[in-house]
Formats: sequence, structure tokens, C-alpha cells
Amino acid sequence: LNGSAIKKGTRNILEKMDESNKNCVVFYGSQTGTAEDYASRLAKEGSSRFGLKTMTADLEEYDYENLDQFPDDKVAFFVMATYGEGEPTDNAVEFWEFINGESPSFSESSDEKPLKNLKYVTFGLGNNTYEHYNSMVRNLDKILTRFGAKRIGTAGEGDDGAGTMEEDFLAWKEPMWQALQEEMGLEEREASYEPSFSVEEKDDITKEDPNVYLGEPNKNHLEGSQKGPFGASNPYIAPIAESRELFTVKDRNCLHIEVDVSGSNINYTTGDHIAVWPTNAGMEVDRFLKTFGLDEKRHTVISVKGLDPTAKVPFPTPTTYDAAVRYHMEICAPVSRQFMDTLAEFAPTEESKKEMKKIGTDPDYFKEKIVNHYYNIAQAVNSVHPGPWSKVPFSCLIESINKIQVRYYSISSSSLVQPKKISITAVVESIRVPGAGHVVKGVTTNYLLALKQKQNGDPEPSPHGLTYEITGPRNKYDGIHVPVHVRHSNFKLPSDPSKPIIMVGPGTGVAPFRGFVQERAEQAKRGDNVGETVLFYGCRRKSEDWLYKDEWEAYKSVLGDKLIVFNAFSREDPNKKHYVQHDIAANGKLVNDLLMKKANFYVCGDAAHMAREVNDVLAQIVEKERGVPKEKAEQIVKGMRSSGQYQEDVWS
Ligand code: 2AM
Repeated sequence: LNGSAIKKGTRNILEKMDESNKNCVVFYGSQTGTAEDYASRLAKEGSSRFGLKTMTADLEEYDYENLDQFPDDKVAFFVMATYGEGEPTDNAVEFWEFINGESPSFSESSDEKPLKNLKYVTFGLGNNTYEHYNSMVRNLDKILTRFGAKRIGTAGEGDDGAGTMEEDFLAWKEPMWQALQEEMGLEEREASYEPSFSVEEKDDITKEDPNVYLGEPNKNHLEGSQKGPFGASNPYIAPIAESRELFTVKDRNCLHIEVDVSGSNINYTTGDHIAVWPTNAGMEVDRFLKTFGLDEKRHTVISVKGLDPTAKVPFPTPTTYDAAVRYHMEICAPVSRQFMDTLAEFAPTEESKKEMKKIGTDPDYFKEKIVNHYYNIAQAVNSVHPGPWSKVPFSCLIESINKIQVRYYSISSSSLVQPKKISITAVVESIRVPGAGHVVKGVTTNYLLALKQKQNGDPEPSPHGLTYEITGPRNKYDGIHVPVHVRHSNFKLPSDPSKPIIMVGPGTGVAPFRGFVQERAEQAKRGDNVGETVLFYGCRRKSEDWLYKDEWEAYKSVLGDKLIVFNAFSREDPNKKHYVQHDIAANGKLVNDLLMKKANFYVCGDAAHMAREVNDVLAQIVEKERGVPKEKAEQIVKGMRSSGQYQEDVWS
């Protein structure tokens, strides 16, 4: 399919390790690629620091019946992300079902401790704002231990919710490596960088050559044909049918974008998510290429190959430096401390090398010099020593920088009303860093803003005063098409429209509920008996950021008394915040009555504060209206969650 697709060979991991002479496999259960990146880093470090012969492995690509024959002179790592409501990531589902089976049928052992020879290391990626925090790693650890396997080090837990993932990881891995060293009798060596990829500059080919990837995600796209199925490795490049601004203020933007999927077989149902494949901003690509001395040869064609059969090149090649950076590398993300440490050996001067080492090894200093400034990769490196840092091998950048991730948005249209047009509602992120001279701009929302400006012929630059140029490769990346795919969700309207629903969605959290209400109005138009439809909405001010202000009136003219919308304007009264949860509390009786009538309760938006506070307010309502003790009320709300009556679509 593309450069990242390895040859499909055996599904027998032991055979694979023997074949390629490995003694350490790092399995990953990854949804968006973060766990995969951590797995690669562990594999890399194991090999460069301790001489382990490592490989990474997608959990999906192997079978596990023979895990009981895993030899005790080898080690298996499990890097496991917990997804959604404590679920395995898509690529870990089969592994999870196997290992969780009543009695997983291991090939040979029939005793109580079938995995007694297995040595394992495990790290979890989770988010503490969700209820099932890191449940994948916790449960896996329990199961493996129960089967007699021996854990090396602690079962690590990284918390994305607190924003400490990277530091949690770094703090966990040092003692783990020490323990593993003892266990396997490994010798630590002076780690110097060893490339995993060869990068060959092709002077005989120009970027116009039809075999050169200029941002196309796979061969079909390169050849100009779009073939489904469209999904996580194959986007549909969709025309934008319509785009407009939803805010009336000039200093912030909220986009409404209609993506036309009529040319594809993409389907969605109301409440699903749409993934947008981002492009890095022109100025950031320029900054990055200049910083690493690649600016002048940005259009040189390069062929990148794994130096080891298990090293996957994270983008299709041949390509150019420009295309690899612009479309495939997450260059605008915050830098990790380890990245600074890794780059130290390539610093342009002795002084900057020392500084990089210090930043890379001292968490407080790292915070002071880098984190507090919200620097991205190029900014961070430049802050230590102005570029170019020409000694940094491109291979090192490919390995150290995450693959660019798709961004998911809750679809804000109804599939009943517009099955082939998908709406996105997104606030353009632009954060002015206190005390610093620069604005941190969201990669994908600013990309969408640029598309909107181009489509409407808006005068550039954007209202934020920073230009965002789109230069695209051939085919459909022309600035008014956007690469997308749909991810199905469980956030769904009741199948019976007469069932009442309660929706809580301040800010862009209203997105899926615009779809829900649009759908209920359509159902009513078609003669269905539609139940109570209650929306708790919140924004700053009536005249600034009231999303879809006029549409609610139109829906009301169809749904009549069945539609009740409460608006919490948080900044109209300078002395008092007015939030959705205040309206929910003030309407406790209505909410409780509807819940007793089996209403679904939906929350969408900010996970960290709003969703938690709404949960607590609901428990208080149950306590008061049903006259039950606090603990019992909390139990009832929990029960509503596990039965699916209470559903969340939240982000942090
Ligand atoms: P604020 O920015 O005035 O604090 C959409 O962002 C709306 O959600 C805004 O009106 C915002 O108010 C509000 N909001 C911020 N924090 C919230 C919270 N913890 N609970 C509910 N609404 C909140």
C-alpha cells in the first residue's frame, strides 16, 4: 500500500524473532500513533544503550497461542493505550479477546501458569479525566501475572489528562532499564546515535517524476485514483462544499465546513466522527527546514529505507524533504526532553551541546527553558543556538518526531438530512502565550481556516495576523479539497425517536447536538412522534459566539414545545459566571422526570472540567429529586453510564 506497509509474512512472533535474530519485541496497542511512537523509542533505546536486538510489533499482526513458548532469554514489551471507555485500541482487539478468554488456549501448556517463562515490560497510555484510567495496562498486567509471567520493572502509567505523559514515561523507564539489565545481564554502553533509516538523496530524479510522493498518502493517490475503503490509512480527498464563519467577533474564529463525500462510498450516521488529515503551515515547514539546514535542498528527492526489516518508514518514498515534513511529521507539537537529549550530540557548538544535555536531563531546567515557552521543535532548538543545525541526520528527525496524527471532529450534521455532506464545527485554536512574543496555533483548525479562506476568496492573512500558506502536491491537494475519513462512534440517538433526550454541549460541544436536533426535526417533518428534546448550551456572549443562533428558531418551528433550549451566557454578567451546569441544576425536576421516562443523557465538550461538573450536578439532582442518599445517587448515575443511558463525547 505504501512505505509503511511491511511485507506480510508470518503471524508467528517467535518465528519472526528467530528469523530476524531478535531477543526483544515491543508490542504496541495504538489508536492515534502515540503508543506506537513510544514503542519505537523503547526499541531504539534498548538497542543503542543495551545492545538488545529489538523490533516493534503491531499487536494486530501476530497470533498469541504460542506465547507460552516465549523463551526466557528474550523479553516482550507491551505498550498499551487505553481507548474510550476503557476499551482496547482497534489494533489490540483480537489480542485482548484472546488473552481475556475464559481459558486462552495456549498451544502447549495445560498447567496453571502457562506463561511462566515469559518476561515482560509494560507501559500504559491513559487519560486520568476518563473513568477507566489506564485500564488496559492494569488489566493486562493482572492477567499476565496470573498466568505466571514475570514483570520487569513497574507497570508504567502515563497520564495525558494531566499532561505528564512524557515525564511519566521518562521517570518509569530508567528504573525499568536497570531492572531489565540485571534480569538479562545486559551491559550499558555509551549510547551514541545509530540510524534506523538510510536516507539517500536521488540527484537523478526530480520531484516532477510521477513516482515521487509529494504528500500523497499511498500509491492509489499517487496515481490520481481514489479507491475505498477509506479509513485510517487511506483518506478520501473531499471537496469542500461550503464554509463559513460562525462567530460575529473578529478576534476569534469558529468554522462551519461542509465536506462533500458524494464522490465516495463513505457513509456516516449522526453522532460519528470525521477525521481530518492535516497539513503543516507553510511558515512552520519553512522554519523547520531552515533550522535543520534542509531549506536549500527541500525539493531534493530522497529515498528512505529501513536499515532493518522491522524498521517501518513512516511515510511513502521516494519523496522530498519538503513533502515528508509538510504532510507526515508532527513538527508543531511540543518537544520532548528526550528529543533535546538525543540532539545534543549534533549541536553546532560545544556550548550548545552542553546546554542541550542539561535541558535533556534536568526536568526543571527543561520546564524553565522549553515547556514554559510553548516552543515547538524548531523554536526549541533555535532558542539554544540559532540554526542551521546541519549535523542532525534526517534519519534522526524521522525517528524522533511523531508521525502527524489525524484530528477527529464530532460531526455536526444529521445523516438523515444530508447523508453525503458532513459538517464540521471547529473553533480555530490560537493561544497567545502569556509573556511570550508568539502565538501557538492549532495545526488542523488553522489549516481548515486556510481552506475556508481560500474557498471563499477571503482576504489573507487570517484575522490572527499570521499567514498560513497552502502549497500542495499534485492531484487534489489544491486548497479546496480536504483529506478525510469517517470513524464510527457509539454516541447515538435512541432508535426510537419518541424517547426523550437531554443534551449538554457548551461551546463546540454543541456540534453533535446540532446534528441530533437537525435529525429530530427531520423525523418530525416526516411524521414521526418525536419525544422531548432538551439542549443545555453555553457560550460567552449572545452577540459573539452563539453557535447556530438562527437555526434553533427554525428547528423550534418544526419541533414546537418538544424542543427546549437553555442558553448559559457565561460573560454577560461580569460578576457571575453562568454555565450549563447552573441551568441543569435549576431545572432538576425536568431533568429527573425525563430520566425517569428513560431519556438518554448526552454530554459533549471539555472533559477536564465541564463534563465532570455536569456528572456531579446530575448526581445532586438524583439525590434531591428521588430523595436518596448521596452515595446511592452517585451509584445511580454510574449505572446510567454503564447501561448507555448516559453517554459522553468529550475531549481534553
Ligand atoms: P468562560 O470561557 O466564560 O469561562 C464555551 O467555551 C463556554 O463554556 C464558555 O461560555 C465558557 O465560559 C464555558 N465554560 C468554561 N468552563 C466551564 C465549565 N467548567 N463548565 C461549564 N462551562 C464552562
